[in-house]
Amino acid sequence: MVEQLFFCDPDSLKVDYLTEFLAERRVPQNLFYLLNGANAFYAYRNADLAQIAWQEEYDFFVKQPFWLQAEQVAFVSLGCGNAGPEKMLLSKLHAGGYPVHYVGVDSSEQMLALATENLDGEAVPQTYALGDFSRPDFSARLWDVVVDFDVRVYAMLGGTFGNFDQVMIAELLALLIPTGDYLYLDVVPQYATAHENQQLRARLSRAPENLSSFFDGLLATLGLSRENGDIVAVESRDGVLNTFRYTFYLEVAETLTVSCMEEEATLQAGERVELLSIRAYDVASLTAFLAGYGFRLLDTYIPDVGNLGHRWQRLMFVKSARPET
Ligand SMILES: C[S@@+](CC[C@H](N)C(=O)[O-])C[C@H]1O[C@@H](n2cnc3c(N)ncnc32)[C@H](O)[C@@H]1O
Repeated sequence: MVEQLFFCDPDSLKVDYLTEFLAERRVPQNLFYLLNGANAFYAYRNADLAQIAWQEEYDFFVKQPFWLQAEQVAFVSLGCGNAGPEKMLLSKLHAGGYPVHYVGVDSSEQMLALATENLDGEAVPQTYALGDFSRPDFSARLWDVVVDFDVRVYAMLGGTFGNFDQVMIAELLALLIPTGDYLYLDVVPQYATAHENQQLRARLSRAPENLSSFFDGLLATLGLSRENGDIVAVESRDGVLNTFRYTFYLEVAETLTVSCMEEEATLQAGERVELLSIRAYDVASLTAFLAGYGFRLLDTYIPDVGNLGHRWQRLMFVKSARPET
């Protein structure tokens, strides 16, 4: 069973994102993944996904408590992309008799098309929704879709969580996820040694070179290119979270006018356009931060990622009625 839903009109989303970019000189990160951005992202990420051992994730999942409470579990992937990270997990859970239903949500039509294609032929029941989870009406629209399940696991995979302002995304998840449901996060963790962390920081700071066509595609959508300036990486503190946070900007070399969607804006020489933030986490401070929003850590593991340049860590939280102390 495959169901396709539209919580909003994709063209109006694109117009809104571009308008936001022009007004705030900051790129809403959804814009990266529209149009060719979806393929550009997976030109890198598919190779990484192939390295991550799915069997460990399956073992991690089947020991979670929700199977005992539930006849039907919704796995809600917020920012599902091409559904690549969860494909094997869903397939094996369904084959193993676990009653799972997949709900893939993304603001990019192109990403949802990749997800549908990727899971085509998989027996797990699937619902896809085009929607922006930061919109005020999203929570109610999603609730209509998932209300009949006994348990919902809300997943944010592939570093999606780490791209957002952390207070904003924690507040959003706290409002979206009902008491008793689960949050499953995938983040880049820091290492135990200063030497490894130094290498991690160097790698994060080089994202615009390592993911060059991804950044180039975004600049092209904005009517810009690297020839309009330098991409600079700024490492900065992140409130109570002890993260390594890198924010990438295009620093404009000469004053120029950009036009998107029939709107124009002048970027002054030296002005910075904010492109993207990425983070690597100190997991203890992340856990303490999310406890303040009612998320209690249940379980976590670090999958074998073969020869990838950094690790990923999966964290399973349960939502309580009030903030954990
Ligand atoms: C870093 S990618 C990760 C994709 C996928 N989960 C993976 O691990 O490969 C982030 C995804 O989130 C989507 N996204 C970003 N902001 C969103 C929003 N506000 N609402 C819905 N989807 C969003 C993007 O379109 C993109 O597909």
